[in-house]
Amino acid sequence: MSHDAWRRLVLECDDDATTRELARTLLISLDANTVEEQDTSTLPSTYDDPLSEGQVRFVAYLQAPHADSLPLLREQFALALRTHTLTNATGRVEPFDDTSWRDGWRAFFKPAQVSPRLAIRTPWVEFDAADHVHVLVIEPGMAFGTGLHETTQLCLQALDDLCHPAPERLLDVGCGSGILSIGAVKLGVSNVLGLDIDPIAADVSAENATRNDVAHATHFDTTPVAAIQDTYPIVVANILASILTTLRDDLIATLAPGGRLILSGILEEEHTTLAAHFCDNTGLVLDRAEHLGPWSMLVLHNPIAGTN
Ligand SMILES: C[S@@+](CC[C@H](N)C(=O)[O-])C[C@H]1O[C@@H](n2cnc3c(N)ncnc32)[C@H](O)[C@@H]1O
Repeated sequence: MSHDAWRRLVLECDDDATTRELARTLLISLDANTVEEQDTSTLPSTYDDPLSEGQVRFVAYLQAPHADSLPLLREQFALALRTHTLTNATGRVEPFDDTSWRDGWRAFFKPAQVSPRLAIRTPWVEFDAADHVHVLVIEPGMAFGTGLHETTQLCLQALDDLCHPAPERLLDVGCGSGILSIGAVKLGVSNVLGLDIDPIAADVSAENATRNDVAHATHFDTTPVAAIQDTYPIVVANILASILTTLRDDLIATLAPGGRLILSGILEEEHTTLAAHFCDNTGLVLDRAEHLGPWSMLVLHNPIAGTN
């Protein structure tokens, strides 16, 4: 067999900060797209087997090059579990029909207003919003970004707050479904560049931009942020803290003087360390940190020479 096949990785382990971070690192090492972290307080999800108290479950997906690669992936996963020594961890790899995922989360999606001027809905759920509210219509497909996740909502709230007035241009690093880029255009930004290492995310973002009539103001591709030469008045990156840490210098290089950097995907217990990492000897200043559920978001700015 030669066609690509989706695999679902389910990893359960003790719910403490160190074990969670190790689990994320393990999944990234297997090139998985981590789409859900569930604990006993999480909303019902696409994967709703009961979860023991004190445990967290990661449900991740990856595209295997061959449909017959399941045994190999199981072996790699078992080896990774042994090497990462997670506490009380169990894992399994399952073949996965991507249409069942696309359809599964539809059942629990609830449209919502997430900031004073932004609401989100899917193509199949209507939402009555006040006239001043822009309703983003998002179909994430296999990309991250329904808008339900706290990290996405924190970014949309920050964008709503900072786009008064909206700058001309914005950079969205890790665009996923394109939700933040689309929201930015609805808030008045004229030109948005969205980047993602995952080509599927870039395609899904472009489809969502068309769906929301903002294709003319957006461009999505897989260029690494390190290769971006331009600078932007707002840069937003909703990616895991461990990845943000490695991208620090590349992200800062894209920030115009006086520009704002929005960072999300950070667990609350990680936010102080990450803020220090982004401010120490870089010239950036922390404006504020916001928190929602277990997640945090930072807004930093790049002072214009001679100011702070
Ligand atoms: C948590 S999702 C955020 C999606 C969307 N921006 C949102 O806020 O809902 C993170 C995205 O970052 C992408 N990503 C991970 N590492 C990246 C990197 N080094 N450069 C660009 N994108 C990356 C992932 O593929 C994923 O689509």
